[in-house]
Amino acid sequence: MSTTSRPVTMEKITNLCKRRGFVFQSSEIYGGLASCWDYGPLGVELKRNITEAWWRDNIVAREDMVGLDSAILMHPKVWEASGHVEGFTDPLVDCKSCKQRFRADQLSGPKCPECGGELTEARQFNLMFRTFMGPVEDTASTIYLRPETAQGIFVNFQNVLNSSRMKIPFGIGQIGKSFRNEITPGNFLFRTREFEQMEIEFFVKPGDDAEWHERWKAERFAWYQRYGIRREHLRLREHGSDELAHYAKGCADVEYEFPFGWSELEGIANRGDFDLRRHSETSGKDLSYFDEETRERYLPYVIEPSAGVGRPLLAFLVDAYDEDVADGEERIVLRLDPRLAPVKAAVFPLLRKAGQPEKALVIRDVLKQHFLVTYDQAGSIGRRYRRQDEIGTPFGITVDHQTMQDDTVTVRDRDTMEQVRMPVERLATELRARLAPSAPPPHDVDGAARAAVE
Ligand code: GAP
Repeated sequence: MSTTSRPVTMEKITNLCKRRGFVFQSSEIYGGLASCWDYGPLGVELKRNITEAWWRDNIVAREDMVGLDSAILMHPKVWEASGHVEGFTDPLVDCKSCKQRFRADQLSGPKCPECGGELTEARQFNLMFRTFMGPVEDTASTIYLRPETAQGIFVNFQNVLNSSRMKIPFGIGQIGKSFRNEITPGNFLFRTREFEQMEIEFFVKPGDDAEWHERWKAERFAWYQRYGIRREHLRLREHGSDELAHYAKGCADVEYEFPFGWSELEGIANRGDFDLRRHSETSGKDLSYFDEETRERYLPYVIEPSAGVGRPLLAFLVDAYDEDVADGEERIVLRLDPRLAPVKAAVFPLLRKAGQPEKALVIRDVLKQHFLVTYDQAGSIGRRYRRQDEIGTPFGITVDHQTMQDDTVTVRDRDTMEQVRMPVERLATELRARLAPSAPPPHDVDGAARAAVE
């Protein structure tokens, strides 16, 4: 399916993000800092809802996963062992005239794409941000901002094994910031120099890796659809052998069809035993696993589903963006999955008198104990619905004259615009039901067993 039939453009998304407080440019009052972004009041809620959904589905709901939160700053030996000091580079060229820098592998010709000037020879540029630990700025105190969260998991493999009684196959997940001094960042949140990752390192017995790789590819591909991204805008693309990272035996990307083309949301790699082997060799610590049942000792293989946060967030926004006509007026509507929507419900008094604002504020305060709920009394009811549609609020609760008589309200659905009347006392239960996790993860217990528990 082509993007041309969709109303969304990157310009509309960036405008909406700024206008409604999803995303602002970093340090904007000083002219901004290239490729760094701040999440505003609505963006931070959306981001939290995405990371919480990921954590709930991949860590909490699974018996074979545990979580971790390792430090961003790590021993410099980590990056030697992982191959990042030597190999985490992009080929860089400079324009001799306009001084702009480009990735040599992204240029289509021998001249500067901006001014047609002559380019320097390509040289390898390491993408890790370097800094110094302590007061002395010398090579002995050089450390790096981590370019992936993954290494924090590998160096804690034995700690987790010793402290948690996990048995292979099992995985460790973590969410955290990573930093890459990208030569050509861009496309809004898509490629930035500071970003967040949601990573899983899943440890398996060598020989079981191909099967687990397939399972994780299916699981992660389904996850994006579970939270509303349309199937036709997603694809799973296998890497060619020339594209593989230095550590990978195989890799497939979950790609999304952005307005700027198909691009990666998440990579699912088979890292073999590359990392544990390198860390064993470099640290001198035995990182092998002893299987009590088979009495075998081996270095586990690793399947790594590695997602960003900003890229999926952008994909959820792009996929949710729609324009239609409501009550004869054009509207922008974000059809976000209610579980991801920043604000869950808005409460409106139909009139700014007759006790309706006071009643609506009480309802807001009660619901706010459980959900992010907002109150709005400014402008016509139609305009107030529109304001909420534009930020994806799934439910509009209106207090009217009937509320004052029988304690019922209308609940309007963002997508169908249908309204149903229900008692105020049922609101919290109703919202909770509509916001509950829907489809269970496919790896889990079978349907009958689940139904019995539920
Ligand atoms: N540990 C493996 C790893 O980091 P990667 O493919 O380099 O693999 C994984 O990164 C994910 O992290 C990507 O699919 C993307 O979602 C996100 N990511 C990587 N670089 C990024 C950048 N510069 N800006 C935003 N997200 C990025």
